[in-house]
Amino acid sequence: MAPSFSEGHALMYDELNLKSGNKVLEVGVGTGISLKHYPANVIVDAIDASEPMLKEAQENIEEGVGADIRLQCMDAHHLEFDNDSFDCSIIAHAIAVVADPDMVLKEMIRVTKPKGRIVIVNHYKEHPGILERIWNPIRKRLGLGRQIDLFQIIENNGLELLKSKNVNRISSKLLVCKIP
Ligand SMILES: C[S@@+](CC[C@H](N)C(=O)[O-])C[C@H]1O[C@@H](n2cnc3c(N)ncnc32)[C@H](O)[C@@H]1O
Repeated sequence: MAPSFSEGHALMYDELNLKSGNKVLEVGVGTGISLKHYPANVIVDAIDASEPMLKEAQENIEEGVGADIRLQCMDAHHLEFDNDSFDCSIIAHAIAVVADPDMVLKEMIRVTKPKGRIVIVNHYKEHPGILERIWNPIRKRLGLGRQIDLFQIIENNGLELLKSKNVNRISSKLLVCKIP
C-alpha cells in the first residue's frame, strides 16, 4: 500500500513547521514507511500498539533516517507521556483504526503543548457513494479502518482547523489543526 500513501506521507511533516530540537509525537507509526520524510535534528517518539509493526519500523529506521526516532509499544488511548510533552503531534491512517478516535485525539491534545499543531492524515470521503460502500468492508479487512467524520471530531475537541488538503490516490485528507 506504500505508494498509495506516499503523497500524504511526503507532505505531512512539512505542515508541522519543525525546527531543530523540536519534540514530535507520532501515533500509530505502523511499519514506519513515512519516517524517511522527517527532517533531520528533530526528536520523535513514535508509538504503535503492535510489536510486529514496530519491529519493521525499527528496520526502516536502520536503513537511514535523519531524525532521532524512538519507538515504543503503547496504546494510543492511554499515552504514557506527561501533559505538554511535545511541540506537535501527528497521526496518519490510524485515527479511523483505533477503537475510540475521540479519546485518542484528546490524548494527543493533552500531551501536546498549547498552540502546538496536530496533523491528521486519513482516508476521507465527504459523500460516500456506491463504490465507497463496497470498498468500506475491504478497507476494514485491510486494517485501514472505518469511515469517520474527521471534521466533527476536530470541532468537538476545540481544535482550530488551519488547513484541509486532498492527498493520495485513495482520497485522503491532510488536516492541519492548532491547539488553542
Ligand atoms: C493503517 S496503519 C498506519 C501506519 C502508518 N501511520 C502509515 O501511515 O503508514 C494503522 C496503525 O495503527 C496502529 N494502531 C491501531 N490501534 C492502535 C492503538 N490503540 N494504539 C496505537 N496504535 C494503534 C496499528 O497497529 C497500525 O500500525
